[in-house]
Amino acid sequence: MNGNLFKTSKWSPLPLRVALVLFVTIFGVYICYICMNQITVERTTLFAAEKAESHCEIHDLSPEEIPFVHFPQPKTYNRGECSCTPVRFFVILSMQRSGSGWFETLLNSHPNISSNGEIFSIRERRDNVSSILRTIDTVYALDWFSSAAKNECVAAVGFKWMLNQGVLQHPKEILDYFNLNGVSVIFLFRRNLLRRLISVLANDYDRHAKQLNGTHKSHVHSKEEAEILARFKPTINIALLLSNLGHVEKTITDCLQLFSSTRHIILYYEDIINKHNDLSHVQEFLGVPKRKLVSRQVKIHTRPPSAQVMNWENVFKMLNGTKYERFLHYTDYNS
Ligand SMILES: *[C@@H]1O[C@H](CO)[C@@H](O)[C@H](O)[C@H]1NC(C)=O
Ligand SMILES: *[C@@H]1O[C@H](CO)[C@@H](O)[C@H](O)[C@H]1NC(C)=O
Ligand SMILES: *[C@@H]1O[C@H](CO)[C@@H](O)[C@H](O)[C@H]1NC(C)=O
Ligand SMILES: *[C@@H]1O[C@H](CO)[C@@H](O)[C@H](O)[C@H]1NC(C)=O
Repeated sequence: MNGNLFKTSKWSPLPLRVALVLFVTIFGVYICYICMNQITVERTTLFAAEKAESHCEIHDLSPEEIPFVHFPQPKTYNRGECSCTPVRFFVILSMQRSGSGWFETLLNSHPNISSNGEIFSIRERRDNVSSILRTIDTVYALDWFSSAAKNECVAAVGFKWMLNQGVLQHPKEILDYFNLNGVSVIFLFRRNLLRRLISVLANDYDRHAKQLNGTHKSHVHSKEEAEILARFKPTINIALLLSNLGHVEKTITDCLQLFSSTRHIILYYEDIINKHNDLSHVQEFLGVPKRKLVSRQVKIHTRPPSAQVMNWENVFKMLNGTKYERFLHYTDYNS
């Protein structure tokens, strides 16, 4: 049997067959790769072509800035006198209860910034990568309708994207999109993940309890409303506490790593609250004229975490001596 096998394979020795199979495989993969690239190139010429077609002057921009400015031509209206106002694309990558709602109201108080909210909270928009990219295209083409849309003279347009809303499921395609279209990334996280957890639990509770006269509010505009919401003290699940904090910490680290090649800045809620970061840095990053940014929102939880949790003693015991100990002592706020 063996002898026969060797005889018949005389004219096509095993290495040759292996080489042939390898060749076919590699060729197949190559063709696929070309096709995929074609798709990406077709998509991304959208904004590149607009830049090439536009007759706008970009002389006063530095060469490093040019990949990050655009001259979108919206389908739904004419940019008129501002058609040559360069537009920066941005995205806020954040997590729930990390101050991103408040941060967006600050940005939107600027006449040249339009931050369109949590657009991927709607599931259909993040069903698959093509619906994700189509949605982003519409925002950056200045064709997205929201209360934040300011139309003609917008110089920075973006939205906020929570890490549990599809961005980490398709990192490769999204990273390519960001880099090819010159999207600037604002990472906004919270340093004290225990305080974040308290806020998550309190917000979940209010979703059902509707403490403010029967309406659920994630953000409030008066001290009285804040006081009512802060009265509720959640009980933290001690058995899951360490793994919960570890999971959130890892999500943040993964995200920073995945998108580290983008043009980006990293912001922390606590720093903005404490005015260590007066947001002029952010306005510079977004290429808009500097001005004072304001928000009507009022902070809900202002007391130390020990006064905001039912089972503080157990929480303390669980975290004391761990790497999360700082969350217990951390004084986040000066005021
Ligand atoms: C900002 O918006 C104002 C008012 O819409 C406009 O006059 C101005 O040209 C814009 N500035 C920039 C830098 O986009
Ligand atoms: C992607 O999702 C959208 C919205 O749910 C759907 O209409 C579309 O058919 C999906 N496309 C692919 C390629 O799965
Ligand atoms: C709830 O309703 C009462 C009576 O209508 C009103 O006085 C109060 O201001 C409302 N409170 C909030 C937080 O909206
Ligand atoms: C916290 O841990 C330290 C040692 O790491 C211990 O001395 C202290 O008593 C602990 N505090 C409480 C309240 O358990």
